[in-house]
Amino acid sequence: MEKVIVTRKIPQPFIDQLELFADVEVWNESYTPMPREKFLEALNDATACFITLSETIDEEVIAHAPKLKVIANMAVGFDNIDVQLVRSKGIVATNTPEVLTETTAELGFTLMLTVARRIIEAEQYVQNGEWQSWGPYLLAGKDLYNAKVGIFGMGDIGKAFARRLKGFNVNIMYHNRSRQVEAEESLGALYVSFDTLLEHSDFVVCTAPLTEETRDKFNEAAFKKMKNDAIFINIGRGAVVDETALVAALQDGEIAACGLDVLRKEPIDMSHPLLSMKNALVLPHIGSASVITRNRMIQLCIDNIRLVLSGKDAKTPIK
Ligand code: GLV
Repeated sequence: MEKVIVTRKIPQPFIDQLELFADVEVWNESYTPMPREKFLEALNDATACFITLSETIDEEVIAHAPKLKVIANMAVGFDNIDVQLVRSKGIVATNTPEVLTETTAELGFTLMLTVARRIIEAEQYVQNGEWQSWGPYLLAGKDLYNAKVGIFGMGDIGKAFARRLKGFNVNIMYHNRSRQVEAEESLGALYVSFDTLLEHSDFVVCTAPLTEETRDKFNEAAFKKMKNDAIFINIGRGAVVDETALVAALQDGEIAACGLDVLRKEPIDMSHPLLSMKNALVLPHIGSASVITRNRMIQLCIDNIRLVLSGKDAKTPIK
């Protein structure tokens, strides 16, 4: 008999699907991860696991999982999985590309405009009863219109983000480990070096995954190269940014503001200096969080598990 571990509460109809072919052990909490000890214990006789970004798949996990055939990660990013190790054991790891692209790009766009137009500050201003009269520069922000936007990471989400810029009359630059000629043609995006992107962009938007090449890419030197009135947005992964350098850059006026949906440590510590800065907007990693998209991500994980357990190829194996 197959056994699937599901490390978060998901709607019962999805569990019903899994129960058609497997015993299912669910950690029935929506907002608290399955404790590591419990996860390790449950893996002993598991043939599949449905995990989230909260679970790290490393040597210890694999050593506890002698029967494991498939790991379905409910995310497109997979820096939580030691892919080489998993592959060396003949275990298939899968992720959830495509289904979340548009939703994540929309969140990035929302974050960018919210920071640019100081929407959170403005709302707090009203709530605090500070609104006395109209003022010529009251909560004046920054236009996206006519701006130069630099996208770091031109994968599916970077392209979907760039598509949304049409209509704002912006200049789009991008940097990516490989050139995306089709995107250059269809989106009018100019391929530039990382330094040129930093130096010329009014908005720098990071959609990049975490890899050895991207870790700490936005460091002190990078923020120094950026315009002093630039806005930095990150919807990729937290560890692409050196947060100490980011805080210093915001404090010293090296850049104007930032919007982050991803952090090095999630959840962020409440004592983190970013949380007390007016020019930093921090969201709790909700890029793909629309109901439809989350349903699609769960369904894709289940499809991958079912396919692999029945001896077929996964729909979206991590390559
Ligand atoms: C979320 O960050 C994901 O990788 O899907």
